[in-house]
Amino acid sequence: MRLDGKVAIVTGASGGIGAATAVALARAGADVALAARRAEALQNVAAQVRDAGRRALVVPTDVTEQAQVTALVEDTLTAFGRLDVLVANAGAYIRSPIRALTPETLARSLAVNFYGSVYLVLAGLPHLLQQGQGHIVLVTSMDGKKGLPPDAPYVAAKFALSGFGDVLRQELHGTGVAATVVFPGRVDTPMIADLRVPWISAKIPPEAVARAIVQAIRRRRSEVIVPFQARLLYWAQCVAPKLADWAVRTLGLSGEEVEQDDTA
Ligand SMILES: NC(=O)c1ccc[n+]([C@@H]2O[C@H](COP(=O)([O-])OP(=O)(O)OC[C@H]3O[C@@H](n4cnc5c(N)ncnc54)[C@H](OP(=O)(O)O)[C@@H]3O)[C@@H](O)[C@H]2O)c1
Repeated sequence: MRLDGKVAIVTGASGGIGAATAVALARAGADVALAARRAEALQNVAAQVRDAGRRALVVPTDVTEQAQVTALVEDTLTAFGRLDVLVANAGAYIRSPIRALTPETLARSLAVNFYGSVYLVLAGLPHLLQQGQGHIVLVTSMDGKKGLPPDAPYVAAKFALSGFGDVLRQELHGTGVAATVVFPGRVDTPMIADLRVPWISAKIPPEAVARAIVQAIRRRRSEVIVPFQARLLYWAQCVAPKLADWAVRTLGLSGEEVEQDDTA
């Protein structure tokens, strides 16, 4: 799919992977509607989209509110007159050991990491189907392929979203609309700024994920796992889950939470 002249919505566009993806889509020729809760941060990203020569629309949105996500799609159609690409990227890293898990914590994770993406699909899909072309990107996580302790609330939501995307892709077969599920490993964004990770799962720049997303849209890929070494863990999980558990333990893939030094 060619991106020049197309219109994309990116949620979670105020920073990290979403901001990098919005700018990468603009550089590929798309106009971009930017959604997240922090309006000022969105304005900064909008300036970068405009610097790339494309139009930007800032729509402050809480993706856990379905009415706000529906309004986001309507505002984009009103401003740009078309809609081609949905990037459901907004998310939050909500961790809790299962023995301390509360239903509220689980619900909070599902609200942003699962329903927030589903609402975008439900609101945008009818327009993509009507025009007979388009692309939907769901940003899940390697935590949606192999769960790491103590990430149960996040893992549950990301596995749910991965499964939703798997069905979505199949239901869209033959419609002209495609879907990609993206499974990043560790990415150097504010989300995991406080997490020290081992060399084997070193944080990659958000721009690397953004490049993979743009390429996946162009080539209509069904799944993207980045970086390469994350695929090794997935293969281990497919062959023998206990082997993958061993790798998680031995390599310390869950990472270690560290205090940030504010005086630095
Ligand atoms: N960083 C990683 O290592 C990593 C690895 C795998 C997958 N991912 C996934 O990649 C996606 C992007 O994460 P990131 O690493 O770029 O993290 P980030 O820098 O913390 O960005 C998260 C984005 O989501 C937005 N967001 C959070 N809650 C929201 C809500 N209720 N409504 C609207 N927007 C909301 C935030 O914006 P506001 O605060 O302005 O609302 C922000 O723009 C997430 O889905 C995450 O799970 C990240």
